Order: sequence, then C-alpha cells, then structure tokens
Amino acid sequence: MTEKRTPMVAGNWKMNGDRSLVESFTNALNDKAFDRMDVIVCPPSVYLSMFNAEHFQIGAQDVSHLDNGAHTGDISTEMLKELGARYVIVGHSERREDHNETNLLVAKKVARVIESGLIPIICVGEALSVREAGEEKLFIGEQVAALFSEVTADQLKQSVIAYEPVWAIGTGKTASPEQAQDIHRFIRHVLSEHDADLADGIRILYGGSVKANNAQALFSQPDIDGGLIGGASLNTKDFIAICQAAI
Ligand code: PGA
Repeated sequence: MTEKRTPMVAGNWKMNGDRSLVESFTNALNDKAFDRMDVIVCPPSVYLSMFNAEHFQIGAQDVSHLDNGAHTGDISTEMLKELGARYVIVGHSERREDHNETNLLVAKKVARVIESGLIPIICVGEALSVREAGEEKLFIGEQVAALFSEVTADQLKQSVIAYEPVWAIGTGKTASPEQAQDIHRFIRHVLSEHDADLADGIRILYGGSVKANNAQALFSQPDIDGGLIGGASLNTKDFIAICQAAI
C-alpha cells in the first residue's frame, strides 16, 4: 500500500444489531487506540446516535439522493450528519439488488453525499455469472465510469471505493488476494483515465467474507487499503482483529 493512503476498516452491520451491541462496540473500540488507520462502524441508521465514539467513527449504510421533502421512509444526508455520521456506504450490492438501485442513482447519491461533506464508501462488484462469463472488468469499469456522470474527479478525491464481488459476500468464499489485487489495480487504472492523482490517492477497500484469518493476506496487497466487513463486523473480537491486520 502506498504510504500516503491511510488504511481503513469499515464494519457494515446490515440489518443486524441492537442497543446492547452498540454498547459493546462503543466500549471495545474506545478501549483501543487505532493509530494510523480509520475504523468505521456502520450500524442501521436508528442506532447512529447511540454511539459515543471516541477512537472510531460512524457511518450510515445508505442515504437519499434528495435533500428533503415528501419521500416517506427516506433519510437525508443532513439528518445523518446530525446523528454524528461521517461516512455513508453507497451502492452496496444488496441495495442495488433489493431496491433496484442503478448506476445512475448510485452516482446521484454519491454526488449528494460529497456535496453534504460526508464521505461515501462506494461499492462496486460483479455477480458470479458475470465473472464466469469473464466480463468482470467490463462490468466494474461501467460501475466506476458511471460515477463521472454526476461528480468530477476532483470531487471524488476524498471518497472511498469498496470492491465487493457479490459471489463473496456472506458466502464464506473470499476472492483470493491475487484476484482482489487484480481488480483493485484495474479500478485505479479506470480512475487514472480521469485523473492520475485520484487513482493514486483514493482508498479502495476489499469486501466479501473478510475474516480475522484472511484479512492480512488481502490487506497486504499493494492496491488494497483495508476492508468493508459484513458478518465479522458483528463480533468485537473478530472486528478488532481485522482492524489490527490493516495497520
Ligand atoms: P460479508 O459482507 O463480510 O459478510 O461477506 C461484506 C459486505 O457485504 O459488505
């Protein structure tokens, strides 16, 4: 990993957790000093304000691309900021699939998040059928390129990208460090066609069945700057071990 990119590990609780998990994470993470890295916990939005985060930061799992108004059930960036969120996951494959989020909607959300001063963690990644057809780079290239319809390369510079192959999410089947590195490098290549500094400076996380026992091998790849963690982010011991593998 390039010296100038600070390692990051973000936990995505998905629709899991409760008040007592908020408490145990607050205590366990505040107890640690995570120097030289960013640790983020992304619980369901209703729990954001219950964290008293000192040595870590909190993020949301989704947000509306709109400012406010008659949009029942949606949550705005300003609301997330009031609750203490600093990051927002955007375009997770489960949102793309369950809620028909398109590349264009994801790009609009990214634009709104950046405009609000929050930091998007932008998820991309191919389904198994796409990989089996050998079209993963074409697919991911399109997902990344679509961002530029709504934001400039300059605006994207503070953002984070997460490469999450859909076939590795929650399946226990991780991409090999080489497979992940290959796609991370490719994403930097796509970005470099817009701006070389963006390609070099942006943090790209790997997500998909990252566990304490495979994190180190993944995070030590030159273009992998940390991880987006699902299942293993629900257990304080596992999550902390994964964070430590990123330093
Ligand atoms: P997983 O989920 O670690 O449970 O595979 C990763 C994610 O969906 O962010």
